[in-house]
Amino acid sequence: MKIAIVGYGRMGHAVESALIARGHTVSAVVEPAGSTDAPADVYGEVSGTSLAGCDVAIEFSLGEAVVSNARAYAETGCPAVVGTTGWTYQLDEVRTTVETSDIGFVYGSNFSIGAHIFLAVSRYAASLVRNIEDYDLLIHEMHHKQKKDSPSGTALTLAQSVLDVVPRKRRIETGRLDRAPEPDELHVSSSRVGWVPGTHTLTMDSAADTIEVRHQARSRGGFALGAVLAAEWIIGKSGLYSVESFVQALLHEDQGE
Ligand SMILES: NC(=O)c1ccc[n+]([C@@H]2O[C@H](COP(=O)([O-])OP(=O)(O)OC[C@H]3O[C@@H](n4cnc5c(N)ncnc54)[C@H](O)[C@@H]3O)[C@@H](O)[C@H]2O)c1
Repeated sequence: MKIAIVGYGRMGHAVESALIARGHTVSAVVEPAGSTDAPADVYGEVSGTSLAGCDVAIEFSLGEAVVSNARAYAETGCPAVVGTTGWTYQLDEVRTTVETSDIGFVYGSNFSIGAHIFLAVSRYAASLVRNIEDYDLLIHEMHHKQKKDSPSGTALTLAQSVLDVVPRKRRIETGRLDRAPEPDELHVSSSRVGWVPGTHTLTMDSAADTIEVRHQARSRGGFALGAVLAAEWIIGKSGLYSVESFVQALLHEDQGE
């Protein structure tokens, strides 16, 4: 497939490696800041010109850019995979744009397939202690020191899933705890250090033992691979899809689900 890379920053470079490893080619790079190492012609914006001849676009750019880029994908009929974060308060606008066109559009804040497997396994593990009050639960996440948000979106998704399956936990506490946690609180803690690409741990602790479920990303490669797999999947579909619906389809595709 011919794939346009939209946003040629840290993730855009990781996407380039992942798509070449899967036998695709880069048809164009859209990068307003310009680039000296791009593998194809570089354009300043998403348009009919930059998307000419491309089968699908993969975007990791800036939240502010997503709404207008979505309009350009719709106008040019180019399907898109958008991993950019910080724009979902505008999701309704993007949904309208996508649904009044024929394009397919996959979006989400975590394209790592491994992270989604971790979320599913963690949810199941937490559900096993729902009736065993001896086990208390904790979520901890660790990321590199450039990360701006805290806790991570993935930690919050995991926390909500624990609340869904463990009725004695009713509230998420993300602050510093200088007291004993209340029994209905689920503490979600964060650390920022060095270059860690992202580690999430669910701990279930009793007087007798500790059970941990952990996902440790090694690089941005996992996010990039997930985005390329989503680009292969979206071809021929139309409509707005969350990354979760794509991952569900991927994980269960041999099971007829
Ligand atoms: N969904 C996921 O799995 C996942 C994983 C990692 C990062 N992210 C998100 O991806 C985004 C990019 O992350 P990054 O680490 O590559 O950031 P980055 O700052 O390294 O790269 C972003 C690039 O987008 C460019 N850009 C700005 N405006 C643009 C526009 N209108 N059109 C195209 N490109 C534009 C910037 O010049 C920059 O080069 C962030 O929102 C980040 O949170 C998502």
